[in-house]
Amino acid sequence: MFPKEILLASANPHKIEELEQILIPLGITLKSARDYPDGEEVDEDQPSLEGNALKKARYWHQKTGLPSLSDDTGLEVDALSGAPGVHSARYAGNNASYLQNTEKLLREMNGQKNRSAQFRTVIAFVDGKGREHLFEGVCRGTIISEPRGDKGFGYDPVFVPDGYERTFAELSSEEKNLISHRGRALKKFVEFLG
Ligand code: IMP
Repeated sequence: MFPKEILLASANPHKIEELEQILIPLGITLKSARDYPDGEEVDEDQPSLEGNALKKARYWHQKTGLPSLSDDTGLEVDALSGAPGVHSARYAGNNASYLQNTEKLLREMNGQKNRSAQFRTVIAFVDGKGREHLFEGVCRGTIISEPRGDKGFGYDPVFVPDGYERTFAELSSEEKNLISHRGRALKKFVEFLG
């Protein structure tokens, strides 16, 4: 039995939109951090994606009593020993823009032959009884040297998923959801809901 309401512990409109496309058709009403203006920004200061995702989901479950879902994503580049990883949002510094982070990544990758990488999403779900669950989704691909496309967000313009020639930023949101790290983690979560 699906919960009727789930709180998405995110204020990122891109993520909310991607999650809505998958969860609303299941008849689940989604609330988000934006519905609670007095909610605090949860510091993503944990050393792992799992730690950050759980920290946010726990905060929102304690605040609202609702089943709460949070995701944390990192781009893990093989030639950079998994960087930027858990630091993906702040790779070029605190408050860095998507463009600044992407430009830093391209500088770090300058001259690199091995351009393989993966996006990894961890979803943390604290259910109505306060039990904690984790779901992981991975999408492997390649970092290209010139950004292409204007859809999506973050590092999408420089990431070509395996089996494709277009970047994530050149795919429609439906195409991206089908194969993306977040889409895959969410699929596991939906299977768990039953
Ligand atoms: P977050 O902490 O889960 O919001 O993700 C950290 C950073 O990873 C974001 O600021 C984006 O730069 C990047 N990111 C997360 N998901 C995606 C995605 O689907 N495509 C491209 N970049 C992403």
